[in-house]
Amino acid sequence: MEISVIGAGHVGLVTGACFADLGHRVVMVDNDAKRIEQLKRGAMPYYEPGLEELVARGVREHRLAFTTSLKEGVQKSTIIFIAVGTPQKSNGEADLAYVEAVARSIAQHLCGYRLIVEKSTVPVQTGHRLAQTIKTYLKKKHPFDVASNPEFLREGTAIQDFMKPDRVVLGVESQRARQLLRSLYQPLGVPIVVTDIKSAELIKHASNSFLSMKISFINAIATLCERCGADVQQVAEGMGLDERIGRSFLNAGVGFGGFCFPKDLEAFIKISEQLGYDFELLKAVRRINEAQKGSVLEKMQQALWVIKGKTIGVLGLAFKPNTDDMRYAPAIEIIEGLLREGAMVKAFDPQAMPEAVHHLPTVKLCRDPYEVARHADALAVLTEWNEFKELDFARLKRLMRQPLIVDGRNIYDPQRLQALGFRYIGIGRGTLEPH
Ligand code: UGA
Repeated sequence: MEISVIGAGHVGLVTGACFADLGHRVVMVDNDAKRIEQLKRGAMPYYEPGLEELVARGVREHRLAFTTSLKEGVQKSTIIFIAVGTPQKSNGEADLAYVEAVARSIAQHLCGYRLIVEKSTVPVQTGHRLAQTIKTYLKKKHPFDVASNPEFLREGTAIQDFMKPDRVVLGVESQRARQLLRSLYQPLGVPIVVTDIKSAELIKHASNSFLSMKISFINAIATLCERCGADVQQVAEGMGLDERIGRSFLNAGVGFGGFCFPKDLEAFIKISEQLGYDFELLKAVRRINEAQKGSVLEKMQQALWVIKGKTIGVLGLAFKPNTDDMRYAPAIEIIEGLLREGAMVKAFDPQAMPEAVHHLPTVKLCRDPYEVARHADALAVLTEWNEFKELDFARLKRLMRQPLIVDGRNIYDPQRLQALGFRYIGIGRGTLEPH
């Protein structure tokens, strides 16, 4: 199949590279000339495990090409995926200006039947707007269909998520669109859910909001655990074995971040409002998440009494492991809070250091966890990178001014660290230390 993907961001580039790997001919289009040049040279615009190799293979085998020309993309393909950004406006709504601009350009270059597929996360009813816009700007009367094919991939495991998703959702409203998309995804051998376009659009926002709700739920339980002396890890295990609940996304921590959950939650609250429904449940999810980010500062304050003048080491800056992405990372707000209180902050992240320079210019960036620990009054773990799970704790303790660990991702065994002589504070793991 001839495919073009418009927008070479986190979703678009993975989608294009994966379709090319499945044997299709893919043209990746992006209006960022620098990014396209970079991709042509084989350099990735962001870190995603396995992506560089996949892109290199696609290019080598002439199935994957890059261009800044939308016209070329439209002319060379039957299926056009729109994967441009839908950033957040100041009122929380998704900004659809890029999507609309792409729709107008597609209309101008259309030459024969095309299937135009929304891949970007968009509010319900966007598909119909898209169809109307294309119709309005069409130069000659060419047939086309619009479909919705929301993406569920996660940063850090994006390729695996694309190749082996739990399900593929196809929002289609014509036989031709259904057949084209079905034949594209059939080789993956995974469940395919076919719906109308609006339902597919809703599935995406509903899924991300539901997962955010699970995280805020367990974070609220973590707060209760701290107040009554229970352990949230054990509670999550006990709850998660119930198939109706499931263990995943029940990891208590410093709150959810990234460019998807916070933004999609805001957008969904706004969409509901516009549809005349006050989605109070999601407002509570947002509130709990904000409070959760503040809890690290509270824990530090309680353990150190005064933060001013203290040196605090941070392990992990990315919003989750296996990515260099720091957009809406809880680490940013937490560190800004510590700095406001007068702490000196040192930090290390295995991938996000180049990003950290922009997001946290006053933080001292270190080479490794041990440099972070040197003369620190406390260490805070904010991202659960595997390499932080086993450290030379005796060395850390020798380097630190005070052996205090605030484990914001519950990666350590409290008893083990206490036996090694650390003061340990996790999230929702028994009562906090006595005052
Ligand atoms: C999320 C969804 O999981 C994907 O299905 C979706 O396609 C994507 O958003 C998107 O809309 O593009 P992603 O943002 O890459 O993917 O990351 P997640 O693994 O979902 O984690 C999001 C945040 O939740 C992270 O900050 C993570 O640390 C936090 N989290 C996750 C928890 O605090 N606890 C958990 O149990 C799970």
